[in-house]
Amino acid sequence: MVLNENATVFSPETYTDNQSSTLPVAAFVNWFSLVEYGNIKAGDKVLVQGTGGVSIFAIQIASALGAEVIVTSSSDEKLEKAKELGASKVINYKTHPDWEKEVQKLTNGKGVEHIVEVVGGSSIAKSIEALAFQVHIYVVGFLENMEAEVNLFSLLAKQARIQGINVGHHRAFEDFTKALDQINIDPVIDTVYSFDQAKEAYEHQMKGAFGKIVIDFNK
Ligand SMILES: NC(=O)c1ccc[n+]([C@@H]2O[C@H](COP(=O)([O-])OP(=O)(O)OC[C@H]3O[C@@H](n4cnc5c(N)ncnc54)[C@H](OP(=O)(O)O)[C@@H]3O)[C@@H](O)[C@H]2O)c1
Repeated sequence: MVLNENATVFSPETYTDNQSSTLPVAAFVNWFSLVEYGNIKAGDKVLVQGTGGVSIFAIQIASALGAEVIVTSSSDEKLEKAKELGASKVINYKTHPDWEKEVQKLTNGKGVEHIVEVVGGSSIAKSIEALAFQVHIYVVGFLENMEAEVNLFSLLAKQARIQGINVGHHRAFEDFTKALDQINIDPVIDTVYSFDQAKEAYEHQMKGAFGKIVIDFNK
């Protein structure tokens, strides 16, 4: 394949090709949110929603940068895995549908400084309630609904910033790949398939995975 050099970045030197293949989009969107827009600092609190592809990287990146990570999930088993990846507090959003109240309890009423929003829809109003003052919600996805009703009073009372995020730009991706040689993040790869097994790989993807599915052309 011939590509313009502006369309490529170097892989982290310490990563294998399979690890590097996981980085564009789901991983990088978190770096762009938390670092470029959020100026994340050690000790900040970050709320991560669910344990999908974006969110697993959100846990790993935020905790590698010294943040305290709170994760929601529908599954206690996945919440245990989230703890192994660096989450310090967890909430099952099926047993606690008012998860924003749990976030406030877990942060002694202070709220979190960053929310990587992948759910959208009715979750946005809850996310505003889970925030600290003058901080960020990064709208990365809308798994529930593309439309959201926002109480403008809650928004102004919190002086919240709701930031739309569409992956990120070239310079920030280069910063990210360089940083990965310094911070300790091992991308979660659920299964590696060969190209001959591509159909199984996509079927696996469709039924859901914990982490990335990789198709390795050299396998
Ligand atoms: N803006 C961008 O640049 C960008 C980049 C990448 C992805 N995206 C978008 O980001 C979203 C997430 O992508 P993904 O690849 O991470 O998706 P995914 O892997 O399909 O995420 C699925 C997980 O999301 C969680 N989830 C679903 N509904 C939920 C709800 N109502 N409340 C809390 N968690 C819920 C569940 O976690 P549990 O099983 O733990 O409950 C589910 O397993 C998608 O909308 C995608 O299009 C945007």
